[in-house]
Amino acid sequence: MPFVKIGDVAALPPGQVMEAEVAGNAYAICNVNGELFALDGTCPHTGGPLGQGTLEDGRLICPWHAWEYDCRTGANDYDESLKLASFPVKIESGDILIDIP
Ligand code: FES
Repeated sequence: MPFVKIGDVAALPPGQVMEAEVAGNAYAICNVNGELFALDGTCPHTGGPLGQGTLEDGRLICPWHAWEYDCRTGANDYDESLKLASFPVKIESGDILIDIP
């Protein structure tokens, strides 16, 4: 699938998370010190909306029960074998684009 626009980079300042939905699937877009990461937006614990979570030191924190994931790798902080899928992300003309399967 080609890159798909999911939002405006001006709406995602450093330290913030944005929720995006494409074709019925949720994604969490994280801005870590100006670098963007796109992760699966559904927490594997019990389905929490990760795009509504918070960022702390490059970790995405689930809003439901505070499981934490490394934005760069998608890995859970307690169990690194538990990984969120991650997707290529780029900025073009102020738009955030993600490449999803
Ligand atoms: S649903 Fe994410 S930590 Fe429980």
